[in-house]
Amino acid sequence: MATKQLLPQRQRQPDSEALLLLLLASVICPLAMSSPALTMSVGSLPELTLLSGALEKGAVCLDGSPPAYQLQRGFGSGSDNWLVYLEGGGWCSTIEDCSRRKKSGLGSSNLMNAVQYAGIFSGDQRQNSDFYNWNIVFVRYCDGASFSGDAEGEDQDGTKLFFRGLRIWEAVIDDLMEKGLSNAKQALLAGCSSGGLATLLHCDDFSARFPRTVPVKCFSDAGFFLDKKDISGERFIWSIYNKVVHLQNVSTVLPKDCLAKKEPTDCFFPSEVIKSIKTPAFVLNSGYDSWQIKNILVPDESSPTKSWLTCKDNIEKCDSTQIKELHGLRKTLVDDLKAVKGKEDWGIFIDSCFAHCQTPFRISWDSPISPRLGNKTIAEAVGDWYFGRSHEVKQIDCEYPCNPTCSTLLPS
Ligand SMILES: *[C@@H]1O[C@H](CO)[C@@H](O)[C@H](O)[C@H]1NC(C)=O
Ligand SMILES: *[C@@H]1O[C@H](CO)[C@@H](O)[C@H](O)[C@H]1NC(C)=O
Repeated sequence: MATKQLLPQRQRQPDSEALLLLLLASVICPLAMSSPALTMSVGSLPELTLLSGALEKGAVCLDGSPPAYQLQRGFGSGSDNWLVYLEGGGWCSTIEDCSRRKKSGLGSSNLMNAVQYAGIFSGDQRQNSDFYNWNIVFVRYCDGASFSGDAEGEDQDGTKLFFRGLRIWEAVIDDLMEKGLSNAKQALLAGCSSGGLATLLHCDDFSARFPRTVPVKCFSDAGFFLDKKDISGERFIWSIYNKVVHLQNVSTVLPKDCLAKKEPTDCFFPSEVIKSIKTPAFVLNSGYDSWQIKNILVPDESSPTKSWLTCKDNIEKCDSTQIKELHGLRKTLVDDLKAVKGKEDWGIFIDSCFAHCQTPFRISWDSPISPRLGNKTIAEAVGDWYFGRSHEVKQIDCEYPCNPTCSTLLPS
């Protein structure tokens, strides 16, 4: 859930401990996540653009403040290409939860800081060879429901809570269209974590806004949340999703054919969403997604033993019984992705590295110690898929710990 903690491009090592602490803090206490001041970074820092004009359309953050994005303009051969990337950061599922969130940068643009661009955002050709000169938009997340809700609530203290993710999505895209997105020659919608889920939910809507001749694709990073029971046998993530879906009224964006057969909550899971997507898409996810291990398989609510607590913080400390449970997570992911097996224009990259969100960091996106599958980094695989440089880009890693390219320095 940590797209904010973009890595400094230099001096990663001395910084990595502080960074891991931040990441850890963001997982333990996702609501307290504010942008860390990573002052040593050398990447660009596009300023926040506030969408004040969106207020009249009711497109507002949880606290009623205007939504925001960061934009780095494209140049050279990339001037007419657009990457629109949706920030992640979990969800809020109750009034109390959302009230807390509105007092953070994930619920109010008054509290947001601009984030350093790195990895897939980087304007440096050496670490982002396919997209460095595109227009790159980082759409900030402040609704708490994957840019998909449309409702209103009331705080305990009587002030309003706005659940307007869907209106934010509309307002941001409309605004970007006016700024040149409507003339895009190539476009890619992406996002990580809850932004990766949003990417899947909005994929066809995004592509429908362009002429058929324009290549438009969607790329979800760490957004493939599994409908999986936790170690105590509870459908923990399902119950969270159930609250989000109803509190924030997200049904409008859910696939109709799914809604005809299942409960809205079931249709908020990527395993269902992907079945209806018509646009070419790419799914990047670890089979041992660190966030899913910590929050879906072994949430605190599942009363994990001490040895589970150790294991979920560091996969190297898991015993063989625990590793078996983790293999189960990977298996569910692989099984769910059988739905795209026959879709030639889809891509998948399922590595076995203990990580979550692998696009916004140079170390995982494209570096000498990036995870590789078929000897390709994530950046190479995604580029090959987007530009059709390889026939089919579908890579599934072997079970943990077989992949020697999984660095322990990856943010988890
Ligand atoms: C739920 O969202 C839809 C679509 O935006 C809207 O038309 C409807 O009024 C919303 N329902 C409630 C109860 O807010
Ligand atoms: C793997 O890729 C690297 C560069 O991306 C190349 O130098 C190396 O030869 C490749 N190894 C194999 C076994 O193909």
